[in-house]
Amino acid sequence: MRFIHITDMHITADDRPLYGLSPRGRLLAAFDCINRDFTDIAFVMMTGDLVNRGTVPEYLALRDILESLNAPHYLLLGNHDGRAEFREVFPDVPVDEHGFVQFSFTVEDSRFIVLDTLDEGKSTGLLCQKRLDWLAGQLAEAEGLETYLFLHHPPLRLEGGEAMAEMIFGKVKHLFFGHLHRPLHGSWKGIPMSSQFSTLHQFVYNFGSKVMQGSHEPPVFGAANLLNGNVVINPHSFLDASPHFSLRSKAAQNAASPEDLPLED
Ligand SMILES: [Fe+2]
Repeated sequence: MRFIHITDMHITADDRPLYGLSPRGRLLAAFDCINRDFTDIAFVMMTGDLVNRGTVPEYLALRDILESLNAPHYLLLGNHDGRAEFREVFPDVPVDEHGFVQFSFTVEDSRFIVLDTLDEGKSTGLLCQKRLDWLAGQLAEAEGLETYLFLHHPPLRLEGGEAMAEMIFGKVKHLFFGHLHRPLHGSWKGIPMSSQFSTLHQFVYNFGSKVMQGSHEPPVFGAANLLNGNVVINPHSFLDASPHFSLRSKAAQNAASPEDLPLED
């Protein structure tokens, strides 16, 4: 079974450009690629900063773009999102008893838990005791299933992240998150984790500097393959339009420039 991990789409109202790019155009390009080349996926998961300012018109724009995606999809909230505004436009997305946009779902023998780490008005996230208690209940229900966790904020500096790590260690096979606008792969407190580039602008890898810089590094989404308890994630550069060629072709091997390549479909 495989699914797609997309993050930080920052959709704007009326397709207003952001940092010189079209958020709508970028997400539509990702969906075109998925509809064409990933027809066997179980779902697409979008890990927050769904829109740029958390407004109703932005969520309406997102809802319109989602119409073009053929696969089932799931949404969660990031720091650029607005919980009430999101719920107004997407009333069918489940919430927990406190109104946090948190829910779980099962595909085959895998259980997927979706967390709400939005702390409104702040860019840092929060897993308060109410949300942690909800997670504990979900983990208990998921016992015996391969379990995966989705959230927007990287757990490393997330308030409540340490408590979450103690709860999920040995129970959750992989954490998927966004927020960094950069790919990150590794493990944290023994828990495997990964993030992907945004579909839009990226953050330059100089996180220690005082001024954060953006860039137009090419976007990717993650194609996550789950098989027999193994997790393999292929970052896919969905805007790549570079020439395709046979690796065995002598003419390709000897090409002096891209223009000299014998092209293949
Ligand atoms: Fe973001």
